[in-house]
Amino acid sequence: MTRLKAHYAARDIEARILEAIRGAGLNPEQQLSPDDLGALDHFHTGGLRASRELIGLAGIQAGDQVLDIGAGLGGCARLLASSQDCRVDCIEYSPDYCAGAVLLNRLTGLADRIEMHEGSALDMPFPADSFDVAWMQNVGMNIEDKPALYAEIHRVLKPGGRFAFQEMAGEGLPTSYFPLPWATDPGDSFLISADEMQSLLRASGFTAEVFEDTSEAHLNSAAAPAAPQSLTLGVFVDNLGEKAGNARRSLEEGRIRLVRGVFRAG
Ligand SMILES: C[S@@+](CC[C@H](N)C(=O)[O-])C[C@H]1O[C@@H](n2cnc3c(N)ncnc32)[C@H](O)[C@@H]1O
Repeated sequence: MTRLKAHYAARDIEARILEAIRGAGLNPEQQLSPDDLGALDHFHTGGLRASRELIGLAGIQAGDQVLDIGAGLGGCARLLASSQDCRVDCIEYSPDYCAGAVLLNRLTGLADRIEMHEGSALDMPFPADSFDVAWMQNVGMNIEDKPALYAEIHRVLKPGGRFAFQEMAGEGLPTSYFPLPWATDPGDSFLISADEMQSLLRASGFTAEVFEDTSEAHLNSAAAPAAPQSLTLGVFVDNLGEKAGNARRSLEEGRIRLVRGVFRAG
């Protein structure tokens, strides 16, 4: 198993998810809504709120064919399929997360609109010009070869398609607190600056429509309303408190920045 797969491993994930759903007082066999699961399956800074904001910024519409890159448990894919009536393909590197996503797609009644593909964002099993929107939240930090990543995203987008993303940028200071939610140690964390990200995207054929640093807004935002205790990222992320605490401290000290953008493929 690669180090990154080990970082995102979650043994018996299906049993853990089912236990957490029951522990929250929900019946997994009575169709769950994506909102019921929001605190469990949006594994990125800002959670469900950030996903809703990015949908608005990207102007995602009914009928859009969407690709969710590094989809994790597929929380965003289910939000897009249910709230925007999109059809979504997901590419995800962790086999455990793929298994969790397939389960949750079934329990929410969305399996016919979402397809999980286990694989790498650097070599996607889709023909050129397949998607209206490529969506990626808190994934780029794991991928060292950004030019290859952006070229692959540009390849699978239709001409004029949008790439909507959020991720952490690095701003010169070392990211010295580990583990982080996306990496156990520095070997799997590849942060570039916001300026470098934009210039690499431009060099890959994208034009910026939105690019913003939301670090302060995130740090100042009120905590999300308490979710049922059992339905949290901690169901499948080990040492969540320590990882989230290190990310917040790095953000507060300006070692990392939270950015998001919508870029159009030329
Ligand atoms: C922090 S999680 C975010 C998951 C999801 N985007 C979300 O917001 O809930 C990062 C995800 O990126 C996936 N990932 C990392 N590198 C990848 C790659 N090269 N190809 C596909 N997925 C990758 C990981 O397996 C993990 O599920």
